[in-house]
Amino acid sequence: MADLLRGRAVAKKLKEELRQQTEELKKEGITPSLFLIRVGEDPASEVYVAAKEKGCQQVGIASEVIHLPETTSETELLERVGAIGADPSVDGLLVQLPLPDHIDEDRVIEAVNPAKDVDGFHPHNVGLLTLGQPRFIPATPLGILKILEHYDIDPRGRRVVILGRSRIVGRPLANLLSSKLPGGNATVTVCHTGTRDLPAVTREAEILIVAAGRKRMVTADWVAPGAVVVDVGIHREPHPEKPGKDKLCGDVDFDGVAEKASAITPVPGGVGPMTVAALLANTVASAQRRRA
Ligand code: GUN
Repeated sequence: MADLLRGRAVAKKLKEELRQQTEELKKEGITPSLFLIRVGEDPASEVYVAAKEKGCQQVGIASEVIHLPETTSETELLERVGAIGADPSVDGLLVQLPLPDHIDEDRVIEAVNPAKDVDGFHPHNVGLLTLGQPRFIPATPLGILKILEHYDIDPRGRRVVILGRSRIVGRPLANLLSSKLPGGNATVTVCHTGTRDLPAVTREAEILIVAAGRKRMVTADWVAPGAVVVDVGIHREPHPEKPGKDKLCGDVDFDGVAEKASAITPVPGGVGPMTVAALLANTVASAQRRRA
């Protein structure tokens, strides 16, 4: 049975460190602050924004949620984003995605002040990360790097396979893990659902990171014995024993893969809790830059 990479425990420790850093900042008259904008009634976004707000409360970050109606125009949203970005007392601003169909997400992301873009989605920050000079590392990649670091799993010189090429997970992770930065220096392969003979590629991984968005896609025969497996997926399904209740699972068939891997992140309690903690870390770092 693989060792569990317990993101929930790592997140708790990180939040405690952030709470102390926030206290120090407050002694100097700076309260880290994060604005969260949500548009419309996407149920998953409601859950995620509430989790982010709760995280802020836990570490002492001042948070403000702005919930705008589904009918908000793109122009109105761009104005709000611009005004918050210009407020010198604000350290972080994020617009929860997805946005309603009538709003162009890329235009909104580009309207966020890049110095406060704690999601790390602005093209300026994507560019800095690609250059190996990250300012804000997107939350999921940052959370994964911190889990590996916590468990002394150094990717240096190792073969990493990332299944998934999204802008918010696969691509930034591939850049970071192949960079010369600490926690990088790996040999990285990015594969995806269009890759020919995917299992042959994932079996090459010493560290396999799965962000494919497909429930239990990766089974034991896709994994080399002793590999480290990081599961970014999160899916809901009816609980097999508790009627009417849901159960979470990932992109990895946990029971089978845990028999073969040396270490694996569970779902829930793996990558998920680290994403909120990483967002809080970006917000505190932004406030520390404001002090500087
Ligand atoms: N929707 C899903 N994940 C994210 C995220 O990390 N940031 C934002 N802003 N929206 C999301």
